[in-house]
Amino acid sequence: MRPPIDSGTVLITGASSGIGRELARQLARRARTLVLVARREERLEALRDELLERNPTLGVVVERCDLAQPDEVDSLLDSLHRHLVRVDVLVNNAGLGDYGLYEQESWARIHQMVQVNVTAPLLLTHRLLRRMVERKRGGILNIGSCWARAFLPGLAVYNGTKHFLDGFTESLRLELMGTGVVVTQVAPGPVDTEFNEVAGTQTLAGRAPSWLRISAAQCAREALEGFDRARPLVHPGLAYRWLVRMSSLMPRGVLRAAGLPAARQLRHGTSLLDPAHPDTGQRVLLAGGPEGV
Ligand SMILES: NC(=O)c1ccc[n+]([C@@H]2O[C@H](COP(=O)([O-])OP(=O)(O)OC[C@H]3O[C@@H](n4cnc5c(N)ncnc54)[C@H](OP(=O)(O)O)[C@@H]3O)[C@@H](O)[C@H]2O)c1
Repeated sequence: MRPPIDSGTVLITGASSGIGRELARQLARRARTLVLVARREERLEALRDELLERNPTLGVVVERCDLAQPDEVDSLLDSLHRHLVRVDVLVNNAGLGDYGLYEQESWARIHQMVQVNVTAPLLLTHRLLRRMVERKRGGILNIGSCWARAFLPGLAVYNGTKHFLDGFTESLRLELMGTGVVVTQVAPGPVDTEFNEVAGTQTLAGRAPSWLRISAAQCAREALEGFDRARPLVHPGLAYRWLVRMSSLMPRGVLRAAGLPAARQLRHGTSLLDPAHPDTGQRVLLAGGPEGV
C-alpha cells in the first residue's frame, strides 16, 4: 500500500526551510496540490513561484501559520475546509530545538517547542485523520529525530518532544493498520539545515562530522522512498543508519553514561575530559552527537 501522494493534496508544515522545503520541491513533480505552511510567508511565496516554474499545473496553497498557536492551526484548517481543500497526506515536519539547561530556559521557549513539536502534529492529525479513515486512503509522515530514542543533556525538552512523537507515531500506525492510511516516521540524524542556528547549537564542540551529515535533499528523498514503501521508520543516510544499528545494541545504562561528559560540560563548563582539567590532557567530545551538536 502506498500513500496517496501522486495526484493528491499534500500539506507540509515547516515548508519555508530545510527538510520541509526539500520535501515540497520533490513532491511538486508528483502531487496535484501542495499546501505550504510556516510563519515566513515571503519564503513560502518564493517557494510557490519556484515550484510553479517546475510544474505549472501544480496547485500551491500558501498558509502563513504560527503552529505554536492552536487557534492559528484551527484557522488554517477552517480556511482549507472553506476552500474545499481536502488533504490526502499530512507531513508533520515543522520543529525546533533550543540548547541550554532546563531550569534556565524561558518558559515561553519551552512552551513554544512543545506546541510546535507535539501539540501541532497532534491537532493537525486529529482534525485530518477521520476523513482519511472514512475515505480509506491517506498518509501521515512524521519527521521525528535520532534523539527520539536517546538522551542528550542541553536539549531535554526537544528530546522529550521527539520521544513523544516516536511513541505516538508507532502506536498510531498500529491503530491504522488495514484502514488504508499509511503512517511513517522519519528519524533523521544530522542534516544541513537552519536547525542548529535556531537551536543555538551551531558552534558547539563535538559537532557531527561531515561523513555523518547529509543534505536536506537527501533526507527528503530517503524519507519519501520509505513513505512510498509504507516503512514504519526511516533513518536517512548510510553512515547514520549504521550508527543507529550499533547504538541500538547498547544497553540503556551505556547511553546514560555516554551523556555524562556533555552534562558536566554544560553545567560546570568543564569535563573530566576537558583539556583545562588538571587530571587529564584530553579534549571533551559531546556525547552521542548526531543532531544538534
Ligand atoms: N536538521 C537536523 O539535523 C534534524 C535532525 C533530526 C530531526 N530534525 C527535524 O526535522 C524537522 C525539520 O527541521 P529542519 O532541520 O528542516 O530545520 P529548519 O531548517 O530550522 O526548519 C524548521 C521549519 O519549521 C518551521 N517552524 C518552526 N517554528 C514554527 C512555528 N512556530 N510555526 C510554524 N512553523 C514553524 C520553520 O518555519 P518558519 O520559521 O518560517 O515558521 C521551518 O520551516 C524538525 O522537526 C526537526 O526536529 C532535524
